[in-house]
Amino acid sequence: MSKTFYVTTPIYYVNDAPHIGHAYTTIAADVLARWHRQRGESVWFLTGTDEHGQKVLRSAQAGGSSPQEWADRLVAEAWQPTWRDLDISNDDFIRTTEERHTRRVQTFLQRLYDKGEIYEGVYEGPYCVACEEFKLPGELIEGEGRDAGQRLCPVHRRPVEQVSETNYFFRLSKYADQLLEHYAAHPEAVEPESARNEVVQFIRQGLQDLSISRSSFDWGVKVPWDDRQVVYVWFDALLNYITAVGYDASEPELREKFESTWPADVHLIGKDILRFHAVIWPAMLMAAGLPLPRKVFAHGWLLVSGEKMSKTRLTGIAPAQLTGYFGSDAFRYYILRAFPFGQDGSFSWEEMTARYTAELANGLGNLASRLTAMTERYRGGVIPSPGEPTEAEQRLGELAARVTTNADAAMEKLDFYGALAAIWELVVALNGYLTEQQPWQVAKRDDAASQQRLDAILYAAAEGLRVLAILLHPFMPRTCTTLWASVGGPEALGPLAAQPLAEAARWGRLPVGARVVKGEPLFPRLPDESPATGA
Ligand code: MSP
Repeated sequence: MSKTFYVTTPIYYVNDAPHIGHAYTTIAADVLARWHRQRGESVWFLTGTDEHGQKVLRSAQAGGSSPQEWADRLVAEAWQPTWRDLDISNDDFIRTTEERHTRRVQTFLQRLYDKGEIYEGVYEGPYCVACEEFKLPGELIEGEGRDAGQRLCPVHRRPVEQVSETNYFFRLSKYADQLLEHYAAHPEAVEPESARNEVVQFIRQGLQDLSISRSSFDWGVKVPWDDRQVVYVWFDALLNYITAVGYDASEPELREKFESTWPADVHLIGKDILRFHAVIWPAMLMAAGLPLPRKVFAHGWLLVSGEKMSKTRLTGIAPAQLTGYFGSDAFRYYILRAFPFGQDGSFSWEEMTARYTAELANGLGNLASRLTAMTERYRGGVIPSPGEPTEAEQRLGELAARVTTNADAAMEKLDFYGALAAIWELVVALNGYLTEQQPWQVAKRDDAASQQRLDAILYAAAEGLRVLAILLHPFMPRTCTTLWASVGGPEALGPLAAQPLAEAARWGRLPVGARVVKGEPLFPRLPDESPATGA
């Protein structure tokens, strides 16, 4: 049984609707999943929602609902529709209030308790509900103005709460050395390097045992041996990565699913939740004797006005605000093309508009419409014979092979930005090729040699577009499906999703006689009234 490529996103809190920061992680995971599928691998892509804890409970109370009703409504009306609109191709969607999850969380906890990994103690210290995290006094910042005299969470800049409770503790401290050994032996297990350094630094300072239950509210999974306590929301949430793929399942198919899927190949997360994923989570797995995830990749923040975008700080932009104007694929493209994955980057309407126009509409869109229009006009919509390729066509073929290799290597490193940059070399080269070869001039000459030359140019351009449709499909699934149809791909070569990446750049795959389809422009002119200006 071969290992399935297993990629996850964080499960998102349902305190509110998604913003484009959440969409960033989910789109990256989707592109990665689609890329691996296009490589012909078996893939499992999981996302979902984190529904327990005080953060969600308080939002529900403020909204006048029970937490379950609140979560049900947000999942059905906000989270799932957003992922649908963005063409997210997740294979499963886990909710932490589902019985398949809560039951397995309890089993996991009970096993750790029985092994002596969990003990009862008293917790006293500051807690940030927005992070759902116990803080160290040294991390806090002094409040000013309205918050003068209070100590604030450095992430949310809101006052922390003082917690004093009898809780259950997980023996996290005893895993420090084992974690350091693991990261020394597997440096690729936390990326980028800056994230790994941060984690290693943090562990070297020594770890404290972790309070993993709460008794002052009851919105959570009950501790199996003590129903006055609920499981700490992060302990509950992290387990989604195994509960969703059949950890502790009794059904044979699910057991097999777990065997072929776990460990995860990539947990994609934002750097805000790195310690949970690279310290607590592997220690939990070590305690349970389960294999550790192969990679945790912490990407940077999407900044708006120089700050991490967040609902709490009222800087959240809903994905629909962008997709309604630019379309879903343009948003998927922009968000991965604007800045390197792993670094912070700013979102800007102006930059998105400029890239849409230059790279998508005038770059890729124009290329496709020029080719289909010319093939219709000069060859009745039929892809002509390539004839004798000249050096220019050979160069295109070589470039197609090179960008495919480079894009695949970049994707292997989760360098979405680098992959798009590589693929765009082909877009630029094809536009340059048409400008140089001037097929519209060649078409004016009636002699046989010129007409053969025209055939060769049209064929080469169509081939280039065929390659682009395959390489860009994981990034822009809708547009590429249209592009694939426009070069006659479906009839000539079958569905786009079935085109293996390894074969993408084999020049000359498009059969002579394939019929181009002239459709709507791939990237229509943007409406004059931009929502950015409030018009
Ligand atoms: N529920 C926890 C995660 C549990 S995973 C076992 C949580 N949820 S969250 O709703 O706050 O979403 C966190 C994730 O959303 C971040 O880790 C990040 O991936 C993404 N982002 C949220 N805001 C973001 C930005 N402004 N920029 C980039 N990503 C952002 O934490």
